[in-house]
Amino acid sequence: MTKITGTDLADHLDALLEVDAFPPPESFAQAALWNDPAIYAEADADPEGWWDRHARALHWDEPWHTVLDWSDKPFAKWYLGGKINASYNCVDRHVEAGNGDRVAFYWRGEEGEERAITYAWLLEQVQRAANALTSLGVGPGDVVGIYLPMIPEVVVAMLACARIGAPHNVVFGGFAVEAVGERMAESEAKVLITVDGARRRGKTVPVKREIDHTLGTLPSMAHLLVVRHTGTECPMTAGRDVDWDQALAAADPLAPATPFDAEHPLFILYTSGSTAKPKGILHTTGGYLVGTAYTTKYLFDLHPETDVFWCSADVGWITGHSYIVYGPMLNGATSVMYEGAPDYPDRATWWSTVERYKVSIFYTAPTAIRACMSWGAEEPNKHDLSSLRLLGSVGEPINPKAWLWYHQIIGGGTCPVIDTWWQTETGQIMISPIPGITAAKPGCAMRALPGISAEVVDNAGNPIAEGQGLLVLRRPWPGMLRTLYKDPKRFVASYWSRFGPDTYVVGDAARLDADGDIWILGRTDDVINVAGHRLSTAEVESAIVSHPKVAEAAVVAKDDEITGQAIVAFVTPVEGTDTDAMDQEIRDHVAEHIGKLARPKRIIWTYDLPKTRSGKIMRRLLRDIAAGRELGDVTTLRDPAVTDRLRTLIADRRDSED
Ligand code: PRX
Repeated sequence: MTKITGTDLADHLDALLEVDAFPPPESFAQAALWNDPAIYAEADADPEGWWDRHARALHWDEPWHTVLDWSDKPFAKWYLGGKINASYNCVDRHVEAGNGDRVAFYWRGEEGEERAITYAWLLEQVQRAANALTSLGVGPGDVVGIYLPMIPEVVVAMLACARIGAPHNVVFGGFAVEAVGERMAESEAKVLITVDGARRRGKTVPVKREIDHTLGTLPSMAHLLVVRHTGTECPMTAGRDVDWDQALAAADPLAPATPFDAEHPLFILYTSGSTAKPKGILHTTGGYLVGTAYTTKYLFDLHPETDVFWCSADVGWITGHSYIVYGPMLNGATSVMYEGAPDYPDRATWWSTVERYKVSIFYTAPTAIRACMSWGAEEPNKHDLSSLRLLGSVGEPINPKAWLWYHQIIGGGTCPVIDTWWQTETGQIMISPIPGITAAKPGCAMRALPGISAEVVDNAGNPIAEGQGLLVLRRPWPGMLRTLYKDPKRFVASYWSRFGPDTYVVGDAARLDADGDIWILGRTDDVINVAGHRLSTAEVESAIVSHPKVAEAAVVAKDDEITGQAIVAFVTPVEGTDTDAMDQEIRDHVAEHIGKLARPKRIIWTYDLPKTRSGKIMRRLLRDIAAGRELGDVTTLRDPAVTDRLRTLIADRRDSED
């Protein structure tokens, strides 16, 4: 395709907006692992048979006798009787099959350094790390925290935990140490694997030094295992802190993989819910591995001998767990792992990486696509992206314009684009076009994958034939969360109570179109999705009100051209506070408590918040005010004059984000 830019490109994309759907190119469909729509009916006719068959792709030390036990719903058990080891399936199996020299990860650092990490190297490292953890007293069932940047050691750490049956609890490197401490305390982690320092756009963050302040107070935390990455000086507490390199060098290089029950916990991953307290999503071993191996292979049409896969997420999110680590490695894939941001050291870095490693499958978030779009087509056009054959999107709704730009500029108009919908809770992709089958509509997640049942229902839980409603999942699936860590009541209440224990309530609104295709509209709860990062309004509010000069705060989302949503905070200061120049103070305060990702884009200082007569903050009105929309019904307001005052305040405020 000729490379087009500027107004020609804008006209070209506008014209494509008229196109309803993009069928897969003939050549792609012919060679694809899945190209026969009959698979939907086949899976639907016998879902358990389907999941039985797909589980056989993995190595089981003992076979299961029951595919699914749903008798204690909503607490599902998959592959009962089966025994399996996750790290064996991700690493040993490929080495034993003679593929030890295959690159598992082409790692690229922020400064342009490169490492080619083979499966054989990983096998040795994982075994040594497993032994190092064992010698620190970690055993099956003990939680190990991981707070690492995007470096190969994060994969070693996760798989070493899996090898010895110690559930890992990875915290995204962008979260503040206070948030790490909270997640470690909640999960009673025994060991934390962390780093001397992390690189952020050319700067170094002294992670270990920062973490020391927080972890000193945690009674359960026996040891810190410290990876040396940046060479940043850090104090090591004798008897508690252990150097990763030294521990691995001293460890026995052999650690046989112990088979664990299919339902043995594999990991906990904290995510945001409607309250300020994050939810500890618990995934177990067998079903999660089946779900991620299955989707990685068939949905991404992965041919491990020839493809190079790149999921640009961070391992600290579920996307990284499922589609950087487990899914690709279970399939023996070669992936790219990139340490930095898409615009560091420059805006060409992603595209030079695609060109350099001949990436064939690329999976990223709409926010990143929109950011690239705003930087223009010049950079991608300068690079040879012809190795790409499939593109994926995840994490937030993708607007048709961004979809088309991705399809045309990055995919050269020839790569299918799959808009994949799923959640931390679902573990695996649930709704998506199938690249060799579906004529994808830009911006539409299309339909549930074979074996998965998704519906759009009305407020009473009845399926609707067409129109807007709530997205629900009707039957269990292998990668599903099993519970919330140490909080089964909240698990039932959050997901399975509204329409009974057969229906998983997702928390997203969706529209079913006349063809029966699903368009995801966004969250229906108090969860905000900023740049594909899931945050709870309550969590941000509680961080803001912990500032000594703040009396009250309410946080809402506002649409944002790049990040999808942005945070707007309405803040009431303590009486007598001079709020001039306090925006930055509040933003820094939030960054310190949660992380930079949670900083409000806009802060509106106000002495009143619109409340009902019973004192409840009317968020609906705040959302309207933040968006500059006409206000809905204000008759239930305690003091209707408040909204007018807020509206004038917002009019002359600019975004405070730098
Ligand atoms: O609102 C949906 C949105 O992200 C939420 C899940 O967030 P998280 O658990 O952090 O997982 C994100 C990565 C899987 C969903 O409830 N979401 C995810 N994928 C899409 C999406 N919204 C629209 N389209 C998607 N493809």
